Amino acid sequence: MRKKIVAGNWKMNINATETKALIDGIYQEIASYDLTNTRVIISPSYVNLSSALALTEKGIIEVAAQNMHQAKSGAFTGEVSADMLQAIGVKSVIIGHSERRAYFMESDAILAEKVNAVLANNMEAIFCFGELLEDRKSGNHFKVVAAQLSNALFHLQANDFKNIVLAYEPVWAIGTGETASPEQAQEMHEFIRKTIADRYTKDVADGISILYGGSVKPANANEIFSKEDVDGGLIGGASLKPADFAAIIKSI
Ligand code: PGA
Repeated sequence: MRKKIVAGNWKMNINATETKALIDGIYQEIASYDLTNTRVIISPSYVNLSSALALTEKGIIEVAAQNMHQAKSGAFTGEVSADMLQAIGVKSVIIGHSERRAYFMESDAILAEKVNAVLANNMEAIFCFGELLEDRKSGNHFKVVAAQLSNALFHLQANDFKNIVLAYEPVWAIGTGETASPEQAQEMHEFIRKTIADRYTKDVADGISILYGGSVKPANANEIFSKEDVDGGLIGGASLKPADFAAIIKSI
């Protein structure tokens, strides 16, 4: 059975002191939860990854990086490689977040290389994708999503999907307060699963966790997570507040 996942994307927020407070706060809030089939992931900035890993040594909460460079090493000032992340104990990396695509010009081709580098270092890629508002308005959202999947992931072997988590994040719903309706999320997640089943097998498609991201809050998480093909969420703003993040985890 595929796992439920609630992942917090902290983006470029909070310093070292606040990171400790947030992790302590989340532990306190979720102490009594039964998380047998649920993974809880947080993704602090690079500089706080080591401390977050130390603060989560007791388990339950996993730590992911928000990005990494595709090259093994070299003259890429300011960048971080898969090997560097893996060596400190990071097991998952968010790849292809819409902010990386929009502000840092990360193309599907670059993202395919990043996914390869994550997998080559025995880590898991949390691969983000999703259409722009204009794509949805013009009715092209399924086509855009299928192309994003195919361009960045469909060179992989079926077996590689054991180390891939998908995060469908319609760009028009990120940080805007506007959420896809549970029906819109389900419709797209079902399409994503079918696209994977068509390219690979039903087993691969059934085994992969597909998260929804975009303005998930305690007030709407329950309804979104109740949909059959929604296996959890990638949470931005609400993941910075222990009570809100915990409430979202409880909804899963
Ligand atoms: P949001 O961000 O929950 O603040 O909309 C989601 C994301 O960017 O992953």
